[in-house]
Amino acid sequence: MHSHQADDLDTAERLYREVLELRAAQPDAMHYLGVLCHQRGRSDEGVRLIEAALKITPKHPDAHNNLGNIHKECGRLAEAERCYRKALECGPEHYNAQNNLAVVLEAQERLEEAFEAYGKLLQQAPKFAQGHYLMGMFLRNYAQSVEHIEQSVQCFRTAYQLDPRNLRALESLGVSLYALHRREEAAQVYRDWLAREPDHPIPRHMIAACGGAEAPPRADDEYVRSVFDGFADSFDEQLLKNLGYRAPQVLAEVLAGVLPAPAGDLDVLDAGCGTGLCAPLLRPYARHLTGVDLSGGMVEKARVRGGYDALEVAELTSFLQGHPQAYDVLISADTLVYFGELQDVLSASHAALRPGGWLVFSLETAEGDDDRVDLSPSGRYQHTRRYVERVLAAAGFADVRMGVDTLRKEGGQPVAGWVVLARRSSRSVQ
Ligand SMILES: C[S@@+](CC[C@H](N)C(=O)[O-])C[C@H]1O[C@@H](n2cnc3c(N)ncnc32)[C@H](O)[C@@H]1O
Repeated sequence: MHSHQADDLDTAERLYREVLELRAAQPDAMHYLGVLCHQRGRSDEGVRLIEAALKITPKHPDAHNNLGNIHKECGRLAEAERCYRKALECGPEHYNAQNNLAVVLEAQERLEEAFEAYGKLLQQAPKFAQGHYLMGMFLRNYAQSVEHIEQSVQCFRTAYQLDPRNLRALESLGVSLYALHRREEAAQVYRDWLAREPDHPIPRHMIAACGGAEAPPRADDEYVRSVFDGFADSFDEQLLKNLGYRAPQVLAEVLAGVLPAPAGDLDVLDAGCGTGLCAPLLRPYARHLTGVDLSGGMVEKARVRGGYDALEVAELTSFLQGHPQAYDVLISADTLVYFGELQDVLSASHAALRPGGWLVFSLETAEGDDDRVDLSPSGRYQHTRRYVERVLAAAGFADVRMGVDTLRKEGGQPVAGWVVLARRSSRSVQ
């Protein structure tokens, strides 16, 4: 267990197996080996081991809770819910199980039950910072009124006071204040944060997002890593974030409209692959499916999810520049929203495609007929149609189609996105 906690999975696995050789079916060894198997991408084996442990010690709340976590991370939310409820039957004060139950209820969009479950969690464990943070996110994600966003401000303040390492609470506090038009207070949160940590990339970026400094041409590498390594560490949050998120499905449908029936014969790049949500949708087309992302934490999740032939941790534009004419299809879901200026990345995409190859990507829309990019207070960029069309043409793309769709929700409201399809001309350009 010590090796396991120190992330030395090889040693931990060897030792758990030795325990099981010495004493077959020792329940703790089976339970923790099960958790470890899941961490290494062998989730089915993990489920079998923990279920076997629970046959011997059926009233073990941690084992039920960990079994629930495997189901949740594999997307089996109803099974996960059942396990968390069992954990709470065995240990009514198990606040991690209560927290997880609230998360899966939210993920199933059973909002009243989720709200009640978060409320119970805060009663049970008023000093549990993550509980306040998740309640704040819940209130903001499903805000029915301004009061809910105001309450989220209080939750984020409490979460940060209870755990000053919870920087996501601080970032979320700024976003909620901005949503309430308390822009100066939002900027002040980031300025105070930057005063304490002058090199921290998040407040630096977010001050610009609040209009307090010039926007960088794209979110810098440290910002992207720090935001997404943080998300990846908490799969719960990833689930929440994905609520109503449909960019991968929408982009896959657009591709299906122009590609021949899937025949597993294309070289495909998932550009900004994150935790790998696009992989199952692309797999049927791909002879070789590569995922690239700047965040090692996200790539690790994608590795566990599986489906890629290769995964790389790299900056997207440089990666594309290093792979001329290597792909038949490039897909980029909700990633170019971290790029303001698109010229370099779209030129590099054009060069990385083979003649006749397709690029499909999503962006957030900026209103207006002018040629403009805004850095929005969420920290993401928004582009006007005219800007995107000009830059695609300059990059050399011929056949361009652009539609509008709702790809996610924010503050309970749908966020409009561009869905863009572009093709590299089938004649090689001189
Ligand atoms: C919102 S996530 C989307 C992930 C995935 N495409 C999906 O649809 O679930 C955006 C991803 O873009 C990655 N990203 C942002 N800027 C990048 C860059 N310059 N190079 C590589 N990856 C980048 C982030 O690390 C993050 O994983």
